[in-house]
Order: sequence, then C-alpha cells, then structure tokens
Amino acid sequence: MISFKQRDVISILHFNKEELLYLLDVTKRMEQTHYSHILKGKVLAALFFEPSTRTRLSFETAMKRLDGMVIGFAESGATSIAKGESLSDSVKTIEGYCDVIVLRHYLEGAAQLAADIVNVPVINAGDGSNQHPTQTFLDLYTIQKTKGTLEGLKIGFLGDLKYGRTVHSLAYALAYFGAEMYFISPPNLRMPKDYMEELKNRHVACHEAESLQDIGKRLDVIYCTRIQEERFADPIEFEKVRGIYRLSKPILEGLGVKDDLKIMHPLPRVDEMDESLDGTNYAIYFEQARNGIPVRKAILATVLGVIE
Ligand code: CP
Repeated sequence: MISFKQRDVISILHFNKEELLYLLDVTKRMEQTHYSHILKGKVLAALFFEPSTRTRLSFETAMKRLDGMVIGFAESGATSIAKGESLSDSVKTIEGYCDVIVLRHYLEGAAQLAADIVNVPVINAGDGSNQHPTQTFLDLYTIQKTKGTLEGLKIGFLGDLKYGRTVHSLAYALAYFGAEMYFISPPNLRMPKDYMEELKNRHVACHEAESLQDIGKRLDVIYCTRIQEERFADPIEFEKVRGIYRLSKPILEGLGVKDDLKIMHPLPRVDEMDESLDGTNYAIYFEQARNGIPVRKAILATVLGVIE
C-alpha cells in the first residue's frame, strides 16, 4: 500500500517508480474531480529564500483552491533571518505554526536539513543546484499527457546541466522509464559526474554533446534550460556561455526534428527559446507550468493524509 502521509519530498531518489506513478494518478484525479474543502483548516508555510514565480504561486494556489491557508515569505530579508537567526531555529519555530513546509533555498541540502529537524512534512521547492522534485512530478505529468507514455522516450537535455536542478531530478526520474538521454551543453556546464555515474549504474543509455546537430532529429522531447547566471562564481565564465543556445522555429526545422517533438522548459526563460516557438505544436512549456496546480494539489493532499 503506497502512502505519502507525513512524508518529506526532498529528492527523487527517495521515490520508486510505483510511487511516482501513484502521484501522477492522484494528479489526474485532482484534474478530473472537483475537490474543494479537503484541506480546510490546514496551513502551508511557504518559505522562499530564492526568487520564484511558478513554484511559490502554484503551491499557494493549490493550497487555497483546496480551502487551506498559506503563511510564509517570498523574501527572507523581511524575517528574523536578517537579524542572524539560523535556518534551523527558523524552521523549528515555524513548524509550530503550520502543517506542512515548502522550502526553497540557495544551499544544496537545506531541505534535508529542515526535514531532519521538524516533525511536519518538508517539501523541497529547489535547493541550490541539487534537486527540484516537485518540478519533476509536473514534468512527468506533462510528458505523460502529451506523449501518451513515459516509457522508452529519447530526451535531450539542453543548456545548463551543471547548475540545473530540474534536469538533475528529471533525469533520475526518467531512469525508471527506460529513457535514452542526450545531454547537450557547453563543456563547462556538463551534467555533474555523480549524476552521470548514478544514471550509468542504473543502466541508462546516456550521450553527451555540445550541439543538437545530428541529435535533434532523434528526439521525442527537448528539455531546454536557462543558463543560471546567479550560480556562477566567476562572471567571466558566464560571459563565455551567455546566449550559447537559441532555439527557434527555423532552427528546429533546420535540424529536421520529428513533427511530434515537444519542447519543455521549467521557465523562466531568458534568451534560449525564441518566442517564434510559442505558437507551434512543439511548445508545451506554458501547459507544463499550468500542470503545477494539479500536481501540487496532489502532493499537498497526499502528504497531509487527506487522500490515499
Ligand atoms: N520552474 C520553476 O521552478 O520556476 P520558478 O523559479 O518561477 O518557481
């Protein structure tokens, strides 16, 4: 019997294939059934130490649409963190005010640290360059809906694979589904070694390249990412890769991509995806962002134990 009740959501590695499919199934029920009062009286604390539009607002919307309440902050400068309070003391205090914590933090491992300290479930909304598991749930849901299956797809991950936490989590999840993975990046932004080793240990067919040339036409999905300027220690290193990939409709057509190729992106985008793509059948990134609502309703309802 699968249950997410009182579980933390920290890393995709903590979930097996059956659990991922279960969460996708609950998400489908959230889309098809009008649940309205199931989280009445529950309080979500949304603690965001890094900027966010989609993750924070879709968690807040999901909670409120299920009649729950939200406290928290989008900017830690207005909290006692600014006076020197530690993350540990902050979450120890806040757990007394809420039933579940959603935490985005710039440090890798921050969500696990919080989960080790508090007794309410902690949901990782992105910890530094490490992972972003709830983004992965909505990415899987989007792929399943648009491609009709998660099994045996050829996925190209394009852009900043070093710092891109959404790529790290999604690659781990797709390893359960027999995906063939193509990692396309400049040399200084390659998928980190420990992720590649984990994928190889799980017998995933992995390929690395610097461009989509010769690869684009094989792919079922291109998962495009932003170069994460804010994570570079050296601005000169960022300047070397600024604007290195720019997907557009003519470029995709020149690559001879499949008619049913889908382009995904966790967003926000900067310059790596031209607006000429937005109206095409390839583009599913805004639909992907909208799927954040049923997915996050499913996560909240299951960890709070109101849906089995
Ligand atoms: N995809 C994602 O995490 O977007 P935000 O940074 O806007 O939350």
